[in-house]
Amino acid sequence: MSIEELKKSVEEIIEEANKQYSNIDDEISLNEFKNNFLGKKSSLTSFFSMMKDVKSEDKKAFGEIVIKLKSVLNELYEKKRNEINEKKIDQRMKEEKVDISLPGREEKIGSKHPIKAVIDDIVSFMMSLGFSLKEGPEVETEVNNFELVNIPLDHPARDMQDSFSIDDNLVLRSHTSCIQARVMKEMRGDYPVKIICPGKVYRRDSDATHSHEFFQIEGLVIGEKVNMSHLLQTLTLLLKHIFGEKRQVRFRPSYFPFTEPSIEVDISCAECNGKGCHLCKNTGFIEVLGAGMVHPNVLRLNGYDDKKVQGFAFGIGVDRIAMLKYKIDDIKNFYSGDINFLRQFSKE
Ligand code: DAH
Repeated sequence: MSIEELKKSVEEIIEEANKQYSNIDDEISLNEFKNNFLGKKSSLTSFFSMMKDVKSEDKKAFGEIVIKLKSVLNELYEKKRNEINEKKIDQRMKEEKVDISLPGREEKIGSKHPIKAVIDDIVSFMMSLGFSLKEGPEVETEVNNFELVNIPLDHPARDMQDSFSIDDNLVLRSHTSCIQARVMKEMRGDYPVKIICPGKVYRRDSDATHSHEFFQIEGLVIGEKVNMSHLLQTLTLLLKHIFGEKRQVRFRPSYFPFTEPSIEVDISCAECNGKGCHLCKNTGFIEVLGAGMVHPNVLRLNGYDDKKVQGFAFGIGVDRIAMLKYKIDDIKNFYSGDINFLRQFSKE
């Protein structure tokens, strides 16, 4: 074959290859193309086998043309192969796509237990008045729980708080007042003291409004010239914060071993607005906490000079407050762990 003939035939092959190239749309037609133009029976392969018969002066030119043809055909083939591969990948991506627009599984968000909500509210309010948070252990010494808050061993007031004994020296604390003794000892007679102490307490008690475990919040202030009006104002602010401005606050004289004088504090009944109903037992008021001026004995027993400083203290029953605030009629709901009860306090 002469060079001229070869050139002509190469042109025809390229023209034909381009024609077929534009029709390739899958692997089968791609393979057909490969067989036709690059395979054993292709013109390209026959040109290579013709080489040996080409005149020696034409060999170089002939070889160059054939190699050029090979690279043109190879390029076409590779280009199409890449296109088809990309198309295949795109197709798979479409088929295997994760539809992120589907709604996910919603996380269930819990809610604050009503007792915890009341504690947090009271503690943060008292902190805004300058009180700091203190805590103590639930297993307490008999001395801290009773003796150091002016309830000696044979004192009848111990009967008011029938407690759980662990041994001769340890009890499950029957009130948060024992934290007073701990803090006063820690302060070694130093003042001012202005603390708020929430915690769980235990007593042998059980009916619709009493449980063997419940929560209290103790408040204690010690300083020079601390007097009853400070106590009354602090409690009025606190109770109006909890129950609203409209509620009346009433103070009654009472008795606690650790305070002198002692008071009990009532708020006007929200149910009947002070008129009297079943909830307030027709008194128009509901008792919410005990308080008083710290007994001089308590100050002295815990290392304070009762001639120099005075104090006031109060103890709030958190469960009582939560029952009134959320209109809950049985205290056991708080400790049942019943999810349906607790969900009512969820903010969602
Ligand atoms: N500790 C008392 C109780 O558990 C509550 C109490 C009353 C605490 C008067 C006080 C207080 O600090 O001054 O019933």
